[in-house]
Amino acid sequence: DGLNSPKSMRVILAQPRGFCAGVERAIDIVERALIKFGPPIYVRHEIVHNRHVVEDLRARGAVFVDELDEVPEGAMTVFSAHGVARKVENAAKTRALPVIDATCPLVAKVHAEGRRYAGQGREIVLIGHAGHAEVEGTIGQIDGTVYLVQTVDDAAALQVQTPEKLSYITQTTLSVDDTRGIIAALKARFPAIVGPDVRDICYATQNRQEAVHHLAELVDLILVVGSKNSSNSKRLQEIGAELGRPSYLIDDASHLQAAWFEGIRRVGLTAGASAPEVLVQGVLEGLRQFGQLEIELLAGTPEDVKFKLPAEVAEV
Ligand code: F3S
Repeated sequence: DGLNSPKSMRVILAQPRGFCAGVERAIDIVERALIKFGPPIYVRHEIVHNRHVVEDLRARGAVFVDELDEVPEGAMTVFSAHGVARKVENAAKTRALPVIDATCPLVAKVHAEGRRYAGQGREIVLIGHAGHAEVEGTIGQIDGTVYLVQTVDDAAALQVQTPEKLSYITQTTLSVDDTRGIIAALKARFPAIVGPDVRDICYATQNRQEAVHHLAELVDLILVVGSKNSSNSKRLQEIGAELGRPSYLIDDASHLQAAWFEGIRRVGLTAGASAPEVLVQGVLEGLRQFGQLEIELLAGTPEDVKFKLPAEVAEV
């Protein structure tokens, strides 16, 4: 570059990125419920972990609550994509609340797997992050002992009652590499443990992580569009950082900082499974203030997963 010529930056867009089928379905459910039943529609927990999605739906008449007791009698209620514990389902039944369940089918699959292991008389190790809505829902879906393990150290220190009848399941949005390490640590401690390997980690999480691995080979810096409480988005940022690329998790273009781009020629851009594409496009626009952009699309695993809508909103 000459002294006065504007800097040029290459931006490489990850593929796939952004919305997964479970998020699309969950948002679709709330939108359809708003049309069919009219506002307010009560949603237990953020429907998906994205600030913009939540604000947008709130503006259209969705009311987000932490607990079911904040829902008035008889009000139409949606359970978020992360799933809920049995006691939440039961509380809704007891109150005869009309409920539409937006739990991602791939989360529901892990619930069923956990119940199957419990039915075999096995104790269950859940690999996941404490306090995450999905983890609370999964623990609460299983009758029986569930031990939460978050790290290799937790696995090494774990004490169980029936080491010979032990199983594990995982959260759907974990780092594939970290989870392999934790499973290996569990197997070393409890050779008889059974489980799905990393297959509980959903296709969308796996594909987005693989794309970040690819991206990291090509760029100097990685931007992940997603909210701070989005597990899968956070994992993408961590993976970029572990691969030695400065990586930033941003809600939108307003979070971009000029200092990040000094001396940077190639920027990788991706988005978590709950982040709308319009925000990615906004970040692209925002990047133009730091230089002229050359935009390139990474080749990546095509996705054609689509989940059926619940009967209550299938026809609107
Ligand atoms: Fe479901 Fe995976 Fe998305 S579990 S909600 S498809 S991130």
